[in-house]
Amino acid sequence: MPTDLSPIDKAKFVAAKKATDYVKTGMKVGLGTGSTAAWLVQCLGEMVRDEGLRIQGVPTSTRTAQLARDVGIEVISLDEAKWLDLTIDGADEYDGNLNLIKGGGGALLQEKIVATASDQMIVIADISKQVETLGAFPLPVEVIPFGWKTTQTLIEETLIGLDVLGQTTSLRMNGDAPFVTDEGNHILDLHLNRIGNARQLSLVMNQIPGVVENGLFIDICDTVIIGYGDGKVEVRDINNGAIEETKFDFFETGNLFADSTD
Ligand code: A5P
Repeated sequence: MPTDLSPIDKAKFVAAKKATDYVKTGMKVGLGTGSTAAWLVQCLGEMVRDEGLRIQGVPTSTRTAQLARDVGIEVISLDEAKWLDLTIDGADEYDGNLNLIKGGGGALLQEKIVATASDQMIVIADISKQVETLGAFPLPVEVIPFGWKTTQTLIEETLIGLDVLGQTTSLRMNGDAPFVTDEGNHILDLHLNRIGNARQLSLVMNQIPGVVENGLFIDICDTVIIGYGDGKVEVRDINNGAIEETKFDFFETGNLFADSTD
């Protein structure tokens, strides 16, 4: 484990570390994608190797699958698992109702399927992901490559009638070529600035031919674990509104963190 993390990485790490409290032997666990989820996978791998934790992980992307295997977690498909005890994933934005924007890393489709097939979804995030209203982060929408420009036009026309502040869209690129998701699709990023009615937007987007899925996660996340650069962690639960605080202390040797308060 590196000991010279930046404040943002410390925040992501402590959120991921705290989330491991929820993972018990025998569980089937959805493993998210992104830099915060990567910390989680590494922490779980350490627990598998050093503490005898036995879990089966369902990754939400090929890169998470690779990382999970690398750190020693047993990987199974969602079809093998059928249903999961828990999914832990990052987010690009979360609001006070724990509705999310996800897909900044392009894995929103598998992430939404896996999270929806779980008894519980926990989001791990640094405090910068918290927003009053969703929409400053461009909303990713996964579209099939066939006729994607037509789909883009339909999306832009539809946005005119919706409660959003911006209506421009852009095709996500990977260098000079369109970005391709694990499912072989493209991503349109919707620059909306402010989403007034996320539930309506999500439903309407998914009605447009060519749209596979959008990055709004409505009523899917149960709990958010928020990390701060000084090692503080907050746990907020949508069901009882509970806020639990923990502080991790950083050490320069051995284990990176010790849980000092609870
Ligand atoms: C992946 O497609 C995304 O949904 C990520 O979960 C999200 O972008 C958060 O990523 P970071 O943890 O890297 O910020």
